Amino acid sequence: MKTETSVQNERRHFLKRLGAGSLAAIALPVFGNESHAPFVAPPSGDAPDEKYWEQIRKQFAVPPNLIMLNAANLCPPPAAVNEQVKKMLDGLEKDVSFQYREQFSEKRKKAVELLAGFTGVAKEEIGITRNTSESNNIIVNGLDLKPGDEVLLWDQNHPSNGSAWEQRAKRYGFTVKKVSVPATPQSVEDLIKPFRDAITPQTKLLGFSHISNTSGIGLPAKELCKLAAEKNVLTLLDGAQSFGFLDLNLKDIGCDFYTGSTHKWFMGPLENGILYVKKESAGNLWPNIISAGWKEGALTVDEKYCMLGQRNESTLAGLVETVNFHQTIGKKNIENRVVQLNTYLKDQIKSKVPGASFVTPLYPELSGGVTIISFPGKKPAELSKKLYETHGIAAAPTGGIRMSPHIYNTMSDMDKVVKALQALSV
Ligand SMILES: Cc1ncc(COP(=O)(O)O)c(C=O)c1O
Repeated sequence: MKTETSVQNERRHFLKRLGAGSLAAIALPVFGNESHAPFVAPPSGDAPDEKYWEQIRKQFAVPPNLIMLNAANLCPPPAAVNEQVKKMLDGLEKDVSFQYREQFSEKRKKAVELLAGFTGVAKEEIGITRNTSESNNIIVNGLDLKPGDEVLLWDQNHPSNGSAWEQRAKRYGFTVKKVSVPATPQSVEDLIKPFRDAITPQTKLLGFSHISNTSGIGLPAKELCKLAAEKNVLTLLDGAQSFGFLDLNLKDIGCDFYTGSTHKWFMGPLENGILYVKKESAGNLWPNIISAGWKEGALTVDEKYCMLGQRNESTLAGLVETVNFHQTIGKKNIENRVVQLNTYLKDQIKSKVPGASFVTPLYPELSGGVTIISFPGKKPAELSKKLYETHGIAAAPTGGIRMSPHIYNTMSDMDKVVKALQALSV
């Protein structure tokens, strides 16, 4: 077990380890519309205060009597994104001609460019899918693996990066090995060692969730990718719980593949995902979805792996607005706010709800934006139903009571949540 000082030192560096970059807030133009108050970038140099976040809250249509703590599953988009999507859908209802829809190809290109900047990669290396599940499956089904090869997975992976591999292994005869980490990790090393010990000369790929949706544990992505790269092992980093929350730079993290959903922490339009394939790793990956727009020798990830045929182009059109929203507030400010909300929530639960036990580590360095607790002897599904129906709090019954606050939550929301949990615990 680590001493308190060593844990504190690790705390300081852990968000970096998770892959968070250090971009300062970028002040962009004010966004707004007739029906919602405009929102502005926070004053440069200062961390935004509670008043600022209360203004941001007004950009979301969630009614004041509902506290949304479900970012790990789905996030409401801000007004600017909603309005863009609605406008585009409205336009499509009136005109489905090729001529009218040319604008959507332009918007997709622009979105790819912005998403590349957002994640720190080249625009040729990123594509738009429907969600993390699809992006994960593109990797699972795109690599050549044969008997004797091993795929190493975290046992907390989502089925799209777990069962998906097992199905493919049954068909092609390679081996899937799963790694556990301690339920209550005390240090970053506790999270690295099980993977280090499990890699063998047969290991071809390491696949892991950046942050677990069932425990809230956050893995040190940069260290794990480095460890894998040193042994010529490819890495699939499932970013469903980090994309849109962490201020990340995928080049710095060093993964080969990264996946995410725009409808989770990114607060973007429904049913869009991202797929990053490192340029140097694209030669190993076969496309497995081919439709109009695909061509032999396609040079970009979007053209090579993400041509799915006709899609709901109006939702794709909301991606540009979503990136603008993040950049106006500042990616680092968003990350810090989510950590602040979770840290406060954990501290308050720890001191005021003695019946609760934590599934998620208390240290922010070993966890992400997700806080999961349980009440021994009580069923999470019943508790979260009661939270929603009696207290107007939307948490998920995943791994316990899963609470995932985001920038549309305030500190006063966290106080209300703690009061509700106190009532549940008696
Ligand atoms: C770690 C992880 N991966 C993948 C997914 C799948 O995301 P989607 O349903 O958007 O494909 C989830 C959803 O919760 C998740 O938590």
